[in-house]
Amino acid sequence: MFHWLKHYMPRGIYARGLLILALPVVTLLLVVSVVFIQRHFEDVSAQMSRDIARGINVALSVQGDPAAEGVTEGLSLRLARVEDSDLPLSDQRRFYDFSGIVVMRTLYRSIPGLKSVQLPNDNDVVLYVQRAGQLFAVAFDRRRASPSNPHQLLVNMAFFGGLMTFISYVYLRNQLRPITRLAEVAEAFGKGRHEPYRPSGAVEVRAAGNAFLDMRARIERQIEQRTMMLSGVSHDLRTPLTRMKLSLAMLDDAEREPMERDVEDMQRLLDAFLDFARGNAESGAAEPTDAQALVAQIVQDAQRGGTDVTLAQSQGEGVVTLRPTAMRRAVENLIGNAVRYGTRCEISVVLTETSLRIRVEDDGPGIDPERREEAMRPFVRLDSSRNQDAGSGVGLGLAIAADIARVHGGVLRLGQSDRLGGLSADIVIAR
Ligand SMILES: Nc1ncnc2c1ncn2[C@@H]1O[C@H](COP(=O)(O)OP(=O)(O)OP(=O)(O)O)[C@@H](O)[C@H]1O
Ligand SMILES: [Mg+2]
Repeated sequence: MFHWLKHYMPRGIYARGLLILALPVVTLLLVVSVVFIQRHFEDVSAQMSRDIARGINVALSVQGDPAAEGVTEGLSLRLARVEDSDLPLSDQRRFYDFSGIVVMRTLYRSIPGLKSVQLPNDNDVVLYVQRAGQLFAVAFDRRRASPSNPHQLLVNMAFFGGLMTFISYVYLRNQLRPITRLAEVAEAFGKGRHEPYRPSGAVEVRAAGNAFLDMRARIERQIEQRTMMLSGVSHDLRTPLTRMKLSLAMLDDAEREPMERDVEDMQRLLDAFLDFARGNAESGAAEPTDAQALVAQIVQDAQRGGTDVTLAQSQGEGVVTLRPTAMRRAVENLIGNAVRYGTRCEISVVLTETSLRIRVEDDGPGIDPERREEAMRPFVRLDSSRNQDAGSGVGLGLAIAADIARVHGGVLRLGQSDRLGGLSADIVIAR
């Protein structure tokens, strides 16, 4: 029902917090000001003006009567007879003098023959009244016609409202900082960076922070164990393999060759395992890299190695923060697949303000959409008949490339190539 509201809501937690904080305060101030000024000041001003009007009417009606000597002074009015030419051309009121509007309205209504009202400042009111063919100037104190300084209330409210909102905002910021910090650390960990972090802030945020630390420790422990296990096994298997190779050398040629090939295969497998187990630990630190140049270099190296690779249609330029060695490995894996399962391979790089996309396309059979997820899992090889002539892979190429993309905060996306008809593998990372 309130879905459309979402579009207008600020997205950051600070802005939202401020909104939640300021909205009730501002609404309250507005309601109070409007109701108070409308009801209270208007009513009170009208009452006071009516009273003073009554006094003026009395003073004017007894004007010139010797028996009523002293009435005008008694009413604290200053009355004077003036020439018609002294009558001001218009009423006078300062634009922010809102109670003056009510004063004028009431006076005009209550004093017959009133010609002009002058409200030049906070202290004086001067009226010009026509009575019995005579023009009188009546002066009295403004404080008798309306409550003094009504705008003071508004100024005070606005000032203290602003002050309190500011103080609350500062306080709120301190409460929100631990949340944004936690978000930063979690995001960094998602990209494979371990940033120092100590839970702080309110109890709930602290609890979330501690849960995150536990989780991070467990994941790191598991990664470490995986690495140790894989490298341990691979390493320990090497010694017996070497021994086997040595004893094979004793055999005669006919029996030896197939077995030697097997042993070599096993050794290659072990190397791949070790490689994978070490993962990104040894892939170096992230540094600002010219992505176009890096890919061009990879393509050149591959071409020199006799691979049919072309660099096509590249867009945009600039530096991207990435781990060059790891990225090179990912792209080389994709190129390796492309020429293993297809015959030629085309690479394109698109660099925009916010992202980098390295696309590797080939003219092979591609991968069915429903098997793409599976193909990216470690040690998975699809459709072994297809790979018979393709040598013995381990099934790690795509898994490693996906891992590397993830470490850069990106993804490896598989699709179908429009231009070559085979697989199209995209490494997409945010800049
Ligand atoms: N370009 C491609 N065209 C068609 N199928 C592919 C392509 N790339 C990968 N595949 C399929 O996905 C599977 C997994 O690929 P992956 O690179 O992970 O392993 P691999 O190439 O078999 O072995 P490795 O790369 O470890 O030597 C492959 O066995 C293959 O069936
Ligand atoms: Mg491969």
